[in-house]
Amino acid sequence: MDFSQQLQSQAERANSALQHFIGALPFQKSPLVEAMLYGTLLGGKRLRPFLVYATGEMFGVNPTALDAPAAAIECIHAYSLMHDDLPAMDDDDLRRGQPTCHIRFGEASAILAGDALQTLAFSILSDAPMENVALRDRLAMVSELAKASGVAGMCGGQALDLEAEGQQVDLDALERIHRHKTGALIRAAVRMGALCAGDKGRDALVYLDSYAESIGLAFQVQDDILDVVGDTATLGKRQGADQQLGKSTYPALLGLEQAQAKARSLCDDALAALAPLKAQALDTATLEALANFIIQRDK
Ligand code: IPE
Ligand code: IPE
Ligand code: MG
Ligand code: MG
Ligand code: MG
Repeated sequence: MDFSQQLQSQAERANSALQHFIGALPFQKSPLVEAMLYGTLLGGKRLRPFLVYATGEMFGVNPTALDAPAAAIECIHAYSLMHDDLPAMDDDDLRRGQPTCHIRFGEASAILAGDALQTLAFSILSDAPMENVALRDRLAMVSELAKASGVAGMCGGQALDLEAEGQQVDLDALERIHRHKTGALIRAAVRMGALCAGDKGRDALVYLDSYAESIGLAFQVQDDILDVVGDTATLGKRQGADQQLGKSTYPALLGLEQAQAKARSLCDDALAALAPLKAQALDTATLEALANFIIQRDK
């Protein structure tokens, strides 16, 4: 299976899990649940679930045990996008090639669907079957995801991002924004995959953190680059939206070429971070391919 087939097959796996969990909720066919399905399942790459599966499978965890954390993190991600697109935040009308959730369902439904996806993530992590995963590891996943989603992670980063609109921020401040708003959830995806493997996974966390922090920042640097060089049809979101809002981005601060060099060097850091795991006879090929994909992607 080549990498794009792997991406596709894990995305399908994550979609089935998401459909299963959202499909079990009350009020099916209501605008609230329809908005949750729309914002979660229509388009998107499922990269965070991919990281959960790839990391867990590297340690020999059965994918059925990874479905719950994979779906949980994607619920948080989908909620973050729905709220990110609201008029009070980035005010976008196009996402994944479709009208944004609030354009399609109204602001109230988009807000509530995001809220409900956030709590669904933690219901899934607490209640869904996870074969051979110890309760202490499950609890650690709840804690990881909560921290990565909140003030110390995504929400904190989103607040910094909004404060920095129209401002000149320095490189340290920009890195802080990106590591929080995007990096934290990517790091949590990798850590949750590892935690499903118990002690084997915990022993590798120090190397995996370093890998995940590099790809997490690289991911947002590439997202910023695509806002400049991408095209709206491929991206499924409006090219140039960051420039229009005066967002603090890597290309805005460093110029396009240096931003691209930064993404490449972060990818190299990520690959180097995997070397000690490779030396322990772990198969890091999928995580390596993902690091390369993150900086080469065009959407
Ligand atoms: C977009 O994330 C938002 C950022 C954190 C940069 P993705 O590029 O992973 O979005 P989808 O899920 O594939 O649409
Ligand atoms: C969004 O960053 C990060 C989160 C949603 C947490 P962006 O605002 O750059 O994401 P896009 O470009 O709208 O997808
Ligand atoms: Mg934003
Ligand atoms: Mg945005
Ligand atoms: Mg962006």
